[in-house]
Amino acid sequence: MPVRAFGYAGGKPLPFSGPVEITNAAPEYAQALLRAIQAHGGETRIVPRVSGQSLAILTEGLSSLSTSERHYAVLEALLARADGAPTIVLDLAKGELQNLGGCAGLCRSFRIERPQARVFSFSFEACPDLSVASERVVLGLGEPLDDYILREDGGWREAPGGGLVPPTGAVVVDYPPVWLVTGGARGVTADCAIELARRTGGTFVLLGRSSLAAWPDWLEPQSDIKALRGLLARNSSRADMPKRPVEIDRLARRLMASAEISSTISAIEAAGAKALYIQADIGHAAEAQRVIAAVQQSEGSITGLVHGAGVLSDGRVETLQLQDFDKVFAPKVEGFETVLSCLATNRLRHVAVFSSASAVFGNEGQANYAAANSWLNNVAEQLSVSLPNAQVKAFCWGPWQGGMVDDALARMFTERGIGLISRSEGARIFADQLLLSPREQVRFVIGDEWGV
Ligand SMILES: NC(=O)c1ccc[n+]([C@@H]2O[C@H](COP(=O)([O-])OP(=O)(O)OC[C@H]3O[C@@H](n4cnc5c(N)ncnc54)[C@H](OP(=O)(O)O)[C@@H]3O)[C@@H](O)[C@H]2O)c1
Repeated sequence: MPVRAFGYAGGKPLPFSGPVEITNAAPEYAQALLRAIQAHGGETRIVPRVSGQSLAILTEGLSSLSTSERHYAVLEALLARADGAPTIVLDLAKGELQNLGGCAGLCRSFRIERPQARVFSFSFEACPDLSVASERVVLGLGEPLDDYILREDGGWREAPGGGLVPPTGAVVVDYPPVWLVTGGARGVTADCAIELARRTGGTFVLLGRSSLAAWPDWLEPQSDIKALRGLLARNSSRADMPKRPVEIDRLARRLMASAEISSTISAIEAAGAKALYIQADIGHAAEAQRVIAAVQQSEGSITGLVHGAGVLSDGRVETLQLQDFDKVFAPKVEGFETVLSCLATNRLRHVAVFSSASAVFGNEGQANYAAANSWLNNVAEQLSVSLPNAQVKAFCWGPWQGGMVDDALARMFTERGIGLISRSEGARIFADQLLLSPREQVRFVIGDEWGV
């Protein structure tokens, strides 16, 4: 949960030394900042690219580019900074979804990979007047450098502690819930959907990209993909079976995905709820809009949204490309915007987004992923205000025993002393917190802390 770090009353700006450079990626913001710094007697200039060693303020995160392009532009600008040169990255913590940022997660990851770097995010919240917003930035510069959310009442800082609030009371869902769960047929979101089905019943619409494939009659059930590949290879002389290793691998993955989806559907049904799996890539707006419109026709309005769809495209900051941002942002960010835009949001009673502890602590090799999850955290805060009748929660998960955490990643986390969340425990925490935690607790970290 964020904690208040400073107020503006009586605040003093940094005693400016050397010219402050402001990038012109968002010209209106740059001009407003220039005026605010000059009003405090600081020397400053607007530049296309920062060059000096003195303080720089980046406005790339406020530019009119797409969300993933904006974050990539921030990273490019950070990489051009000399180690140790103080840099403030501006973005929006509150506003229209498509304008929000996740630069805090990006900056934290950057600092982990480059411990000499002094790059920090200042995220505005609820301030339409640019001169007021700029004044807050200038006063924030007088504080110890950190990642701040600049709210109306002062600068706030992420405080990972605070933990989970023990759930109280019993679940009351006195209407037939219709849950839309992106990524809900596979991975850890499936565990959470099954637990939710046990608690609330209702209808579960699960979205994922995988197609369903019938398991061949002659093939023994397999839970290990290597063993399945071997079996398929040994039976490649059968009619309709692939012959080439790459095709065998593709079929093995498809069969494993299908088996996982079928098992999720069976578990939801065994819990007494209805489950529908719909193949759709939520990163493709037209496809997602079509299937969500159809499902609302057949099942009625969506009352609960769980956004679990996500992919990784990891790399150290100097190797990440725009396509790595696009790949990660397509389901997490653009997919979520598309899904929300298809729903009658005033009918939503629950919204859960699967974020990551990497947004709060940063993570080596995951600056793009941490940024997308940081964006989700800001979106959850925004939605909790705009949807007063809904429980809105951002789950900043530490690593689970499963899903996208493969054996190699699990070993790496264990070596770092970071415990793994068991699938049953994670699902229990999810359902408890989504259904029973106090409405004002919007985001929480689940799992061990790791440092920035
Ligand atoms: N596992 C962890 O330790 C961990 C930690 C922190 C946060 N999280 C978050 O938790 C969520 C689930 O992660 P996981 O570990 O379960 O990963 P996973 O096993 O890779 O599952 C990802 C899920 O997202 C779906 N998906 C991906 N792209 C999609 C798209 N464009 N459209 C529709 N569905 C899509 C996948 O289904 P298809 O492949 O069939 O599309 C799958 O169901 C992610 O958002 C992740 O960032 C996980």
